[in-house]
Amino acid sequence: MITGKTKLTGVIGHPIKHSFSPPMHNTAYKKMNMDYVYVPFHILPENIDNLITSAKTMNIQGLNVTIPYKTTIIPQLDEIDEIAQKIGAVNTIQFKNGKAKGYNTDGIGAIKSLKKYTDLEDKNILILGAGGASKAITFTLTYENPQNITIANRTQQNADTLIENIKKQTPYTNISYIPIQNTDEIIDDIDIIINTTPIGMTPNIDECPINTDKINQKHTVMDIIYNPLETKLLKKAKQQKAQTIPGTHMLVNQGIEAFKIFTNQTPKYEYFEKPLLKILT
Ligand code: ATR
Repeated sequence: MITGKTKLTGVIGHPIKHSFSPPMHNTAYKKMNMDYVYVPFHILPENIDNLITSAKTMNIQGLNVTIPYKTTIIPQLDEIDEIAQKIGAVNTIQFKNGKAKGYNTDGIGAIKSLKKYTDLEDKNILILGAGGASKAITFTLTYENPQNITIANRTQQNADTLIENIKKQTPYTNISYIPIQNTDEIIDDIDIIINTTPIGMTPNIDECPINTDKINQKHTVMDIIYNPLETKLLKKAKQQKAQTIPGTHMLVNQGIEAFKIFTNQTPKYEYFEKPLLKILT
């Protein structure tokens, strides 16, 4: 029951009604007997300017940030975590002692999902796509000391911009570009493949971002698409005995990391996964 003592958290975005975060966080609060509530806030672009001041006024404890505000909210924050600063995007805001501090849990969510199945140190990693999700994952990956990172993309300029950014802002230099249609040339030397493009997402479930013929049991393949639960890329990879990780893992883990920032408590994975799978299946 919501009482005078209930602590308020939520998510801001535009649109917001399809967000999976409210059922995930609220299920965890309930299971853990925590006096918190997590609310979706639909913020129109013309009302975003004073968002952080308003959230402080309302004594909100934590906010997730989704499209289209992950970058535009940054100037309103009092502090920003190092990795979120480098990525240039924030998906989690902690309100503490009158200060709003921004974090990015997307990359950590992806890395945690991968680490459940494989080491990252000294591995050769192929990342498909060079958009916002790729940026968050690639920056966070550089902290794990992989052997090398290859960015496969349709538009070379977008990959080059990301690569330049990484080289400028981190000590990591073993990062290069390959056209997305040429991944066959290097796939034998790759250990881990991460798809961050929307190719294969509902309704285009028969599309696949790369040629999968050379994928085999030595590969780990993660997709960040969670609708469908198993993309064509993952289906093919699984048929060819690769280890596969569906997009729900990153979604759950980024949410768990945000929950920890908001509350200082760690929920069980299943508290977040169960309500999500209920919606998606
Ligand atoms: P994000 O939410 O991560 O920012 P996005 O901007 O929609 O996602 O796209 C992420 C990546 O998917 C981009 O690298 C984009 O390639 P370009 O840089 O060439 O635009 C890639 N992408 C999207 N649709 C694609 C398609 N139909 N074929 C190939 N790549 C595609």
